[in-house]
Amino acid sequence: MKIQVKQGNGLEEAAQVVVVTVFEGVTKPTGFLKEIDDRVNQQLSTLIKRGIFFGKQDQVLTVHGVYDKHAFSVLFMGLGKKETCDYVRLRHIAGNASRAAISLKSSEVSWIVDAELSGSFDAFKLGQSLTEGFLMGKYQYTTYKSSDETTHISGLTFSLDSGKIKNEFTRGHTKGIILAESVIIARDLANAPPNVLTPKHFVEEAKKTFKKIPSVSIEVIDKKKALKLGMHAFLGVAQGSVLDPYMLVLSYNVQKKSTPICFVGKGVTFDTGGISIKPAAKMQDMKADMTGGASVLAALYAIARLESKGSFMAVIPLVENMPSGNAQRPGDIVTAMNGKTIEIINTDAEGRLILADALCYAVSQGASQLIDIATLTGACSVALGSAAAGILGNNQNMIHRFEEISHFTGEKVWQLPLYEEYLELLKSDVADISHCYEGREGGTCTAAKFLEQFVDKTPWVHLDIASVMMYKENKGYRVKGMAAEGVRNLIEYACQPALLK
Ligand code: BES
Ligand code: MG
Ligand code: ZN
Repeated sequence: MKIQVKQGNGLEEAAQVVVVTVFEGVTKPTGFLKEIDDRVNQQLSTLIKRGIFFGKQDQVLTVHGVYDKHAFSVLFMGLGKKETCDYVRLRHIAGNASRAAISLKSSEVSWIVDAELSGSFDAFKLGQSLTEGFLMGKYQYTTYKSSDETTHISGLTFSLDSGKIKNEFTRGHTKGIILAESVIIARDLANAPPNVLTPKHFVEEAKKTFKKIPSVSIEVIDKKKALKLGMHAFLGVAQGSVLDPYMLVLSYNVQKKSTPICFVGKGVTFDTGGISIKPAAKMQDMKADMTGGASVLAALYAIARLESKGSFMAVIPLVENMPSGNAQRPGDIVTAMNGKTIEIINTDAEGRLILADALCYAVSQGASQLIDIATLTGACSVALGSAAAGILGNNQNMIHRFEEISHFTGEKVWQLPLYEEYLELLKSDVADISHCYEGREGGTCTAAKFLEQFVDKTPWVHLDIASVMMYKENKGYRVKGMAAEGVRNLIEYACQPALLK
C-alpha cells in the first residue's frame, strides 16, 4: 500500500473516495470543507441547513460527484464536539472511514486535513492517530478464504491545509504506520488456527519477522535447555501435548552488562484446559491464548523499526495445553526455575505456570523492569467486561505510566489490587505455594499474586488481557476477531518508560 502526505486540497488526486472530518455544530463550511462542498453541488451545506447532518460523532454523510469525467464519493465524517474530541476518537473515526471506503469499493483514498482539524491537534499526534486508526480499521484476516472478494485499498494520501505542519505530521504518520503494522502482526498470529500456529510455527514466524531486522537477535530455548535451566513449571504444562515447547527470547540492544526492560508474553497456542478440561462452548477462541506472546513479539518489532533508545527483551513461553495420558495432573508438584515448589490445583490455570518460569528467566537476565501480558483469567472479564484490561503490579510509577499512555492509545487499563490477603488463598499443605485458588473470588488478583512470587524485587507490571482478547463487532479501529489489544500500550511504554529511582 502506498501512503503519502501532501499539501493541497486533495481534490486533484485521482481518488475514488475523499474523506474529510466535520466537528459537531458546524454552521457554514469554510476553507477546504467549502471547496469540497462546492464540488458536490453544496450537498453538505444544504443538509447542514436542513439540520440533517451536523457533525455528530459517528454521523457519516456520503455524497457522490463527478469532476473532469472522474466519479468520486466524499465521506463527511462527524467528529462530535471539538472540546471532547481526542486522539482516541480520531483513531476511531479513521477506522470507520477506512471500512466505509472499502464498502464503496475504493482502492484510492484521499484524506483531507483541513484547518479546523489541524488547528485543533498536535501535528505529530494527529498524523500518528489518523494513520493508525485507518490502517487498523481496514484489517481483515483472509488467509484461509479461498476467494477474496474484498476491495483492498492500495493508496492513501493525506492532503494538508497547511505546509507548516507537514514535517511533524509526516513524522507522526511514519510512527503510525509502524504501530499499525505491529498490531497487524499480532492480530494475524492471534487469528491463526491452532493446528497451524503451533509453538514451533510461532518460532518460525518470529524468525521470518525479524529476518530483515538484524538489530533483534533470537534465542530459542528448547526442551533440553529448559530442563537444564530447571523450568519445570513451564515444562509441566507442555507435557500433555505431542508438540514440543519453546521459550523464545528476543533481544534488542542487549549487551553483557545491560539491564533491559523485559516484556513477557503468554504463548499458549491452544488451551483446552488440560485434564481440568474446559467446556466445549467457545473453546475455539482459545487459539488466541498466545495473544500476549504475539503482542510482545510485535512490540519488539516496533521498537526495532523505531530505532528506540534503550535495551529491550521479550520472553515468550510457547506451549500447547492438552489432556493426554502424559498430561499434568491436579495434585502434581513442580519446581520453578527459582526453586519454589508449586502444587498444581487446576490444570486450566496453565498461563501463570509458564509465565512463572519466563519471569524467573527475565530476572536472571538482569531485567530492570518487567512487564508481562497475558490472556490469563476469565475473572478479568467478570470484573471489567470487555472495556478494559486489568493492570496490577508492585510498582505504582509503572502503573501510572501505563494509565497515562492508555488515555492516548485508547487501550484502556484498570488497576486491580495485589493485597497480601490473596497470598493466603494460595497456601498449600504440601508445597511452597499452590498455583491457584479454587474459589471464584478475586481470580485476577490471585493469579497476579502468584506471578509476583517469581519477579523477585524487580519493578513489575502485569496486564491481564483476557477481557479484551477479542472484538465481537467492527467498531472504529477495532475489527471483529482477535484483538491484540495492548500492543500499542507496550510500544508507547518502550518509547517513554517510567523513570524509576
Ligand atoms: N486462557 C484462560 C483464560 C481466558 C478465558 C482467556 C477466557 C480468555 C477468555 C486461562 O488459561 C484459564 O483457563 N484460566 C482459568 C483459571 C482458573 C482455572 C483459576 C479461568 O479463568 O477460568
Ligand atoms: Mg487455561
Ligand atoms: Zn490459558
